[in-house]
Amino acid sequence: MRGSKPIQLGVLASGNGSNFEALVQAIADGKLRAEIPVLIYNNPGAAVAARAQRWGIPAVLLNHRNYHSREAFDFDIAQTLRQSGVEWVVMAGWMRRVTQVLIDHFGDQMLNIHPSLLPSFPGLHAIEQALAAGVKITGCTVHIVRLKVDSGPIIIQAAVRVLPDDTAESLHQRVQVQEHEILPRAIDLAVRRQAQLTADNSPRS
Ligand code: GRF
Repeated sequence: MRGSKPIQLGVLASGNGSNFEALVQAIADGKLRAEIPVLIYNNPGAAVAARAQRWGIPAVLLNHRNYHSREAFDFDIAQTLRQSGVEWVVMAGWMRRVTQVLIDHFGDQMLNIHPSLLPSFPGLHAIEQALAAGVKITGCTVHIVRLKVDSGPIIIQAAVRVLPDDTAESLHQRVQVQEHEILPRAIDLAVRRQAQLTADNSPRS
């Protein structure tokens, strides 16, 4: 894909934004051929907004509390992303359930990162779920977004050993190191796969 134009990535994030920053860094380091024309966040004061500001990336606050339905919220998200020229969407710590509205707009070009080896421990508190279950290995997953939470086709996973004295914080920290590693790689892989599919399906001359 060298020579092709950078993909336009829209990022949705709710809180800290370390995955957002890992993406920005991967782009700056030339590891991911992409641009982020917009970050959307939903919690006023979220640390991710300050990270975006430091990198000069436009950040738009869409507060879900101001909407009468999930669909109306997703509609505004889709509009904002489209107006910024976004082609691929990454949910990097996006703590809202998506509706069919967003899926209809972006289809398979919407990825999510989750801090467990899916299909184990979907939903909230995945790290705590892993600790409570007593698994010896957990990890993180990047997958295509489907309506059911944390359920779509898996792109990349990374495994992380659970240590006997792990707390939720210490385990999450090691999981996040892996998240920052696999998220840019998964985006690159998903984009390449889709380009290949499109090429395979286009009529030959
Ligand atoms: C990550 O662990 C991600 O897997 C989960 O939420 C967390 C977000 O972390 N969905 P950050 O905001 O990117 O630091």
